[in-house]
Amino acid sequence: MYTQALNARDAVAEAGPEEAGRHARFQARIEAEERIEPNDWMPEAYRRTLVRQISQHAHSEIVGMLPEGNWITRAPSLKRKAALLAKVQDEAGHGLYLYAAAETLGVAREDLVDQLLDGRAKYSSIFNYPTLTWADIGAIGWLVDGAAIMNQIPLCRCSYGPYARAMIRICKEESFHQRQGYEIMLTLCRGTPEQKAMAQDALNRWWWPCLMMFGPPDSESQHSEQSARWKIKRFSNDELRQKFVDATVPQGHHLGLAFPDPELAYDAETGHWRFGAIDWEEFRQVLAGNGPCNRQRMRQRRDAHAAGAWVREAALAHAGKRARRASAEAGPASAAA
Ligand SMILES: [Fe+2]
Ligand SMILES: [Fe+2]
Repeated sequence: MYTQALNARDAVAEAGPEEAGRHARFQARIEAEERIEPNDWMPEAYRRTLVRQISQHAHSEIVGMLPEGNWITRAPSLKRKAALLAKVQDEAGHGLYLYAAAETLGVAREDLVDQLLDGRAKYSSIFNYPTLTWADIGAIGWLVDGAAIMNQIPLCRCSYGPYARAMIRICKEESFHQRQGYEIMLTLCRGTPEQKAMAQDALNRWWWPCLMMFGPPDSESQHSEQSARWKIKRFSNDELRQKFVDATVPQGHHLGLAFPDPELAYDAETGHWRFGAIDWEEFRQVLAGNGPCNRQRMRQRRDAHAAGAWVREAALAHAGKRARRASAEAGPASAAA
């Protein structure tokens, strides 16, 4: 946040030369493209920014399982079911890597989960839209995972080591997700007129919410400038959105589909696809909890968390038993040493 950044610099100036030196050395490491690791000194604001970003990212992976999980039992073939199951399991894994990366910053996973369940923490606005037909599973893989890749590839070079390393593996899996989604769309578009109409309908509903996934326009983005200085974020929201549009429009045309934007046009001078105005009021409403599925998603998450309590308790009891057994076995040996 720009104002926060100024305040942070003011605070450093007030804290004296020693503190200012630490900040300068930290920034120099960032400029030199060194990775910051959990035990390294870091400014408190850097730590807080990462905790917020990584935990929001983790929550998005976990909540993102819900709209697609909805179609596992109704997948049109065994092959589709197996691929969708694998994809949804991957998303659970992404959530776990990311909660683990957040924990290296000194926060407890339980607290982060509580923040999600009681509504203090945000997750991606996109997962508050419904999956009405099988074509939505294709559209999500193609567009939502495609947008996620645009966002996440630059995060593989994020200055914070554990986040950057988690993103490398996640991006490989996201690429599989995007392809399986596109392949579903391709199959539908080469199918019957009804199937093609289903694919078109899914594109019509998911296109604009996907453009919103990149966050508010740069002119209104609160966190961008300081995150860029810290090399957490390498491209602005608008830059990433444009990259996504440029990559995705030719793919849609290859499918023979039309984008729900009469202003979409190729600008030969810039080499970019120009697009119409995004309805930011819709985005604000969804973030405020008033999207089509916000309440349903959070209810499902809370129910799943409550239903899984016995698993967490049993896992903890089992880990405790193993640890006691290991220390009992190691006891006499270490005493002898
Ligand atoms: Fe993911
Ligand atoms: Fe994914």
